Order: sequence, then C-alpha cells, then structure tokens
Amino acid sequence: MHLQARLHSAVVKIGGRPLVDDRRVLSQRHIDELVTMIETVKSFCDHLYIVVGGAGAHFYIELARGYGATEAESDDIGTMATHLASLVVLAALRKRVYDLYPGIAMSLVEIDQASRSYGVVMVGPLQKAATSSDSVAALAAEHVNAEVLVIVKAWRLGDRFPVQCSREGPLTCARLEDVMDEVRSQRELAGQRSILDMACLRILQRVRYRTFVVSFDDLGTLSRLAETERLCAVELVSELQRERGAMFAKLGPKLPVLRDRARGLVRGFDDVMHDYGHVDRCASTAILLGSVYRYAHPAIVEIGAWWHDVGRLSGPSEHEARSADMLAQELASAGADESVVVDFVQAVAYHKWSMRPSTLEGKIIRDADKLDAVAPERWRIWDAAACNGTVVPEAELEFVSQIACDLDNLLSLRSAHLLLRARRSELREVVPSLRDEKVSRSATLAASLMTK
Ligand SMILES: [Fe+2]
Ligand SMILES: [Fe+2]
Repeated sequence: MHLQARLHSAVVKIGGRPLVDDRRVLSQRHIDELVTMIETVKSFCDHLYIVVGGAGAHFYIELARGYGATEAESDDIGTMATHLASLVVLAALRKRVYDLYPGIAMSLVEIDQASRSYGVVMVGPLQKAATSSDSVAALAAEHVNAEVLVIVKAWRLGDRFPVQCSREGPLTCARLEDVMDEVRSQRELAGQRSILDMACLRILQRVRYRTFVVSFDDLGTLSRLAETERLCAVELVSELQRERGAMFAKLGPKLPVLRDRARGLVRGFDDVMHDYGHVDRCASTAILLGSVYRYAHPAIVEIGAWWHDVGRLSGPSEHEARSADMLAQELASAGADESVVVDFVQAVAYHKWSMRPSTLEGKIIRDADKLDAVAPERWRIWDAAACNGTVVPEAELEFVSQIACDLDNLLSLRSAHLLLRARRSELREVVPSLRDEKVSRSATLAASLMTK
C-alpha cells in the first residue's frame, strides 16, 4: 500500500508584513496566496496550527509613538493588530478548509481543546505568555509537540544573515546561537525586530522540532514541507540539535545490537496475544508509519517498537513503563545521554490503549501496536492454534475484537486510519477461511464494526 509522505503536526507562522501591500493595508491577493498554501499543507498534515503576525502593526506603532505612546503601549497595539489580521485570515480560511476551528485559540488550554476536534487551528496572541507572534508560534509548536515550525517573513534570512549550505538542494542552515548573538546586540522595540525576537530564539534553543525561515516570495516551497531537503528555506539549528545529531551518530553502530537483544528477549514470550509475531508485525507497521511521517526519528521508531512489550517478561501490569526503563538502561550502557534516552522512553512508555503519548514516535508505536488487532496474520495464527487444540482464551479474543472496534477512536495518526481501513477489508476476506467458530466470530466483529 502506497502512503504519501505526511506531517503529523506543524505550526506555520506568517509575519504581518508579507500580508500588507504598499498602501500598508491588508492585501487580498497575499491572503489568497496564503490560504491556498494552507490548503496545500493541510492536504498532507494531520494537525496544522496557523499564527498570523500584526499586519500593519508597524504603521500604527510608528503613528502612536509619534504621539508619545510608550513601548508597552506599542506592544499592545502590535497584539491588537495580530488579532485583527488573524480574524481576517480566519474568515478567508472558513470556506476553503473543512475542519477549521471556528475561533482563534487564545490560550494553551484552548489549543488542546480545539485540536481534539479540528485539523486546522488558528492561534492568536496567547494570554499571559509570549508577546511577539514569532514567540507565540514557537511556544505553540512546543506545546503541541509539533515536528516543524515554519516562520514566513517578508524577507530572506540569507539576505540578512550568513547562512551555510547544508546538503544537496536549496535548503540552507544557520546556527541559532549565531542569530542570537546578532539579535542580542540590537535594541528590541515593539514592531521592530530585525530577525526574530529574543523570547522566540530562547524557546527555539530548548526545543526538538525543526524550524525553517521562509520568504513570502518562496511560499510555494511549503508544498514540499513533508520532504524537507527540497525546501527553499533556512533551517535554524540549535546547539541542542547538533548535540543530539552527534549522539545519534555515535549510537548508530550499537542500535542493531539493541534491536537484536529485544528480538532475543521477545522470542521467550509464551503469551498467545503478545508473542514474537505480534512484536515483529508491530515493528514492521511502525517502520512503515515512520517512513510516511518523515520527521519521525527512524532509530527511535524501530528500537522503540522492538522494545515496547519487553516489560511483559515480568507480567502484563504496567509493562509499558517497565519496557521503557529496561530500554533506558540498555541505552545508558551503550553510552546514550539523558537527552536522547528520554525520547526512547517517551516512545515506549505510553503505548497502552488508554494512554496518549505526546511524541510522534510514541504515537507511531502505539498506533502500530493497536493496529495489530486487525492484522489478518494474527487471526490466521489464532485460528490454526485453536484448530490444533490450543485454547485461545475467550476473554482475550473479546478484548482484542473490542479494541479493533474502537480503533477509529484510538488511533492518533491519519495514515494509521488509512491502514486500518485497508486491514479491515483484508480481514473481511480472511474471515470465511477461519475454521474455529469463536475465532471467526471475534474476527468478524473486528473486521466489521464502525468501518467508515
Ligand atoms: Fe504492550
Ligand atoms: Fe504490543
């Protein structure tokens, strides 16, 4: 099954300046271009958050400053201009985006509430939080655990700051700390920030998501956002990200050993539901989902999937946390430091059906694990076992078929839903060949209910 490259969660911040024309008023043409791009990005992104800057704010601020307004008052004007521009973009989006949150989320709690039911959420000035719209976007991206933050400006960062070519293709990069040094030497005034403000840069210093600065003239490049290398953008790379990259490079040769160690441990499973086949299928599905969501770290996905059930060696209760602890110990002995270990722990510790992992790799592993309830292979093996006299416990059959029926609500990723649909129809084809009555009844239930 071919699945298109996707993003799970992204924040796009569009500066105020690109949205105004020479007369310093909001430009319909520019808003239309933005809306078209948002529609395109939404077509390959599960959750998209839009932050709009204070369009025309600098004009109002200049005017107010001329009358003696303070910097604090000028910041307030900037915030109001942001809200105004956000309302106009919201109206423009309404007819083109079907799952748009109808308001503007003004707090982190409202972002969470909106994300539960809507795929596109506009984020406004966050109360009691950051003041610039760049820092609002950086904070929102951190809060929703986005894979990527895009900051669209009226200018090219390469024209204002020395950038380095990273690899083949148009993508270039700049060291975040160098940008901070440049900004630190300048006085920051409301509505006048030469590159990005310090609050935004400080947030970027601590986060794991990737940040791209794009010129409004290159807005079309966002159609390639799921395949990073072809982006016409400048990536801001922090020291933390460079350290993590170096750590993963160092760990690289040891990862196959870690995977094989989990394989060996899992071979000892004698649980009919969570046998080697379950973990093997879960790892294959996780790797497939990881290849779709290209910002997921492949090593975390693969190693995490192989280790996710290892804690079952000491029983099922709270095995999720135990698996994560065991993997953390292995990683620490392999020389991994805490900043990397925590990613593997997050990917493994929350895969229970009633839990909600916060990281992309955690969602991939949990979805892959739950999708095994509708894997035709599982039902064929159970059927063969039942026909050979091995009893498949009825309570377990019921539990798995129940999970399978609830999968529409349990899965986090859009591509996992597409896999679910394909597997359910495949399972329906397998059902007639199942010979054990109980297995066949449960498989029918797993295949049929709540199919969309
Ligand atoms: Fe598990
Ligand atoms: Fe599992």
